[in-house]
Amino acid sequence: MGLLSTNLIAVYPGSFDPITNGHLDLIARSARFVDRLILGVLQNEAKQPLFTVEERADMLREVVRGYDNVEVDTFNGLLVEFAAARKASLIVRGIRAISDYEYELQMALMNRRLRPEIETVFMMASEAHSFVSSRLVKEVIRLGGNISGLVPPVVEAALKERFLAKAMS
Ligand code: PNS
Repeated sequence: MGLLSTNLIAVYPGSFDPITNGHLDLIARSARFVDRLILGVLQNEAKQPLFTVEERADMLREVVRGYDNVEVDTFNGLLVEFAAARKASLIVRGIRAISDYEYELQMALMNRRLRPEIETVFMMASEAHSFVSSRLVKEVIRLGGNISGLVPPVVEAALKERFLAKAMS
C-alpha cells in the first residue's frame, strides 16, 4: 500500500528513447511509494525516435522485470487522458537541473488545468545521473564514445547495434 492513499497508481511518462540509468533510478525510487507504477511510453513519431515505440517498451520491460509493481504501456494523445484511463492519480517526472524546471512546470500546470484531480510529483535526479539524457547518450555513442554505466547493458547493446547498422548502410 502506498503512503498517500490506498492503491496509489502513478504514471511515469516519457519518450524513453532509450531508457537511461537516470530513468531507472527514478523508477526504482518512485516504485517504493506507490502501489503501481505504469511507465507510459509516448508513441510520438513526430520526434523521429531512434527506436520504435515497441522497441522502447520492450527494452523497458526487460529492465524493470525485477519490479513486481511496475508495468509498461504505450500511449498516444494527451498524457492526462492516458493517466485517467489507467486510474492513476499521480504523474511522476524527474528534474535534473534548473533548466528542466521551466518546461516541466509548464507541462504540470497545463496537465493540472486539463485534469485537476491528477497531481504531478517531481523527483530530483540523483547526482550521479544529473547529466544523463537519452539525447546525449545517443550523441556520444554515435560519435564513438563510451556510454557504459549510463544505460542498462541491454540498451547499450541495442544502441551499438543500431549505430553499427546505420554506419554500414
Ligand atoms: O521524455 P520526454 O520526451 O521529456 O517526455 C515528454 C512527455 C511524454 C511527458 C510529454 O511530451 C507528454 O506528456 N506528451 C503527451 C502529449 C500531451 O499530453 N501534451 C500536453 C502536455 S502539457
